[in-house]
Amino acid sequence: MKYQQKNPVPLPESGAFESVKTTMDSVFDWQYALERDDLLNLYEKGKALSWNASDLAWDTNVDIEAMSRGRQEAGMGGMLNEVMNPPRKLDDREIIDLNLHMNGFMLSQFLHGEQGALVATSKIVQQVPWEEAKFYAANQVADEARHVEVYHRYLTEKLGLSYEVHPSLKALLDDIVSDSRWDVTYLGMQIMVEGLALAAFGIMKLLMQDEPLIQDITTRIMADEARHVAFGVLSLQNLYTNEMSDSERREREDFVIEATHLMRDRLLMHQVFDRLDWDPKVWVPWMSETPFMKGFRQMLFSKIVPNLKRLGLLTPRVREEYAKLDLLRFEHLKDSVEDPEIAPPQELVQLLMSYMTEKSPAPGGAADASTASSTA
Ligand SMILES: [Fe+2]
Ligand SMILES: [Fe+2]
Repeated sequence: MKYQQKNPVPLPESGAFESVKTTMDSVFDWQYALERDDLLNLYEKGKALSWNASDLAWDTNVDIEAMSRGRQEAGMGGMLNEVMNPPRKLDDREIIDLNLHMNGFMLSQFLHGEQGALVATSKIVQQVPWEEAKFYAANQVADEARHVEVYHRYLTEKLGLSYEVHPSLKALLDDIVSDSRWDVTYLGMQIMVEGLALAAFGIMKLLMQDEPLIQDITTRIMADEARHVAFGVLSLQNLYTNEMSDSERREREDFVIEATHLMRDRLLMHQVFDRLDWDPKVWVPWMSETPFMKGFRQMLFSKIVPNLKRLGLLTPRVREEYAKLDLLRFEHLKDSVEDPEIAPPQELVQLLMSYMTEKSPAPGGAADASTASSTA
């Protein structure tokens, strides 16, 4: 558990520690009915499939810069300039820097999201009324501690480049942790944050095929996260369709819409451009509009949309918002109960590839804003 922190993770403006007030009911279940077999099965699986951070090959030499340089030499450098049509042509050094920082940013937000999951799921242990769900949530808490441990070690010992929590992710985690309603804790964490993380991990695996340590880390964490998302879906199913009034359901719709916007904002990575000293006013709109990045962000919702549908939360209001973000294309994919498969579906990989071939205009030519914004 001892490791060398080459660079500590930077702090957010609010400082090293943050207290979030919450008022909630902590619930005892004195009947111990233990009749929710699906949750009990998940609990058994969670215990049986636990692993230790020390099982990983921490002596692996991780050199993302050399990896990026190798990719450049293999001719992939030109691809970014051609396919992603940046505001100005980037030279080889800048492409390597952008890769290094985007990778460090993504992994750092994984770390912060994992801490959010640790705190939020401990709250579920207290709040959820059923003993079976308390059992599983307790098992998940142990998973999340391990995930924080592993990402922190990777970032500070292996990468030496990390980012503070993005303000939008922090705002969402604060919302989840401070909400008094137990189902909203699940909805925010297991369905939205972890649903997005599961898709993001799949993409990380695709992008980092030549880094064996992060492959192993990601494979292990994805297997855990698939159970966490299933935990959310199994716990909440029937709740919104059978047991809630229209006004209660409307509040949950509001929460889903707000969480979606916060998650989307954090994917614009303005901190990366700040750190690189590239003008965020130029580069953030590019991140927002370039078709490849748009496709990338949309893919991150590929688990969330079918799960919301299963829960009865893909209501007309949510659909209207999701149509604007072009996310309804995922509604027919299998949800986390029908298909616990954790690899990104082949059709999604192809979708991402299709964005890469959706040719941007020639460098220096008049930007074709209509193509870029057609799926706003
Ligand atoms: Fe996790
Ligand atoms: Fe998780």
